[in-house]
Amino acid sequence: MKKLLSVSIVMAALCAIGASAQAQDAKAGDAAAGRKKVDMCIGCHGIDDYRASFPEIYRVPKLAGQNAKYIAAALGEYKKGDRRYPTMRAVAASLSDQDIADVAAFYEQQGKAEGASAFSSSAPAPSAAVAELLKKGNCASCHGENFNKPIDPSYPKLAGQHPDYLYAALKAYQTSNNPQIGRNNAIMMGMAKPFTHAELHQLTEYIASLPGDLKTVEQSHFRHDE
Ligand code: HEC
Ligand code: HEC
Repeated sequence: MKKLLSVSIVMAALCAIGASAQAQDAKAGDAAAGRKKVDMCIGCHGIDDYRASFPEIYRVPKLAGQNAKYIAAALGEYKKGDRRYPTMRAVAASLSDQDIADVAAFYEQQGKAEGASAFSSSAPAPSAAVAELLKKGNCASCHGENFNKPIDPSYPKLAGQHPDYLYAALKAYQTSNNPQIGRNNAIMMGMAKPFTHAELHQLTEYIASLPGDLKTVEQSHFRHDE
């Protein structure tokens, strides 16, 4: 009984610590705990150039180096069904809010742990046509001048992301009547709307060619230093 009591005092103290950490950050993520929760993810996100085959074929997004707040927001959207991609809906539904915070912290940190990316600031200049599209969409006003430093940590880094994934994502913001494809996000639905598929293709080929933090850390690497 005495032992139980002291355990509960320790628990209460830990909860108090947790609560104060949470006051700073909606859900404080623990990267070390997250590492133990990504077994389910690495079969897709831990294989370079892995392609999903349903409902469309494109490469799965790079997660390492992405902003934790954005990863958590994206997982929350799959969970709620605002993002309709079926596999990710099922995956996100199996995660608690704490799991989401932890895996998000893990992937953000995994980008850093693998060494600062050796990219220079010399991004290739866009063609005149692409420059015009970027201006029309004002994309850099949120995603940052080089698409690697968004103005808010809940916005995604895009530089160096797979072009076929970026293209599929932008088309998804334009799709509203398909149960398996589509993203309800007020901001990006408005942003993607004015562009034709050909224009989205041009935009995403350029953005993917930019140097940035995003990468896929191969599963074998990952297992190595465990
Ligand atoms: C069966 C393959 C598969 C598995 C397993 C999987 N994912 Fe995904 N994930 C995908 C695909 C495909 C997408 C792109 C979906 C879309 O188009 O919206 C995606 C998208 C995401 C995104 C959105 C990224 C962005 O840039 O918006 C996050 C975050 C994510 N996955 C995290 C995870 C985590 C964390 C796990 C494990 C708990 C996991 N995924 C397991 C295939 C997978
Ligand atoms: C007003 C701010 C804002 C502007 C301007 C903006 N974006 Fe976004 N973008 C966002 C936010 C916020 C998200 C995350 C949306 C979500 O949660 O699905 C996002 C998501 C995206 C994604 C999905 C990334 C991923 O990993 O899934 C792509 C691609 C994208 N934006 C491209 C663009 C392009 C291209 C433009 C210009 C035509 C643009 N954005 C303009 C705020 C903006």
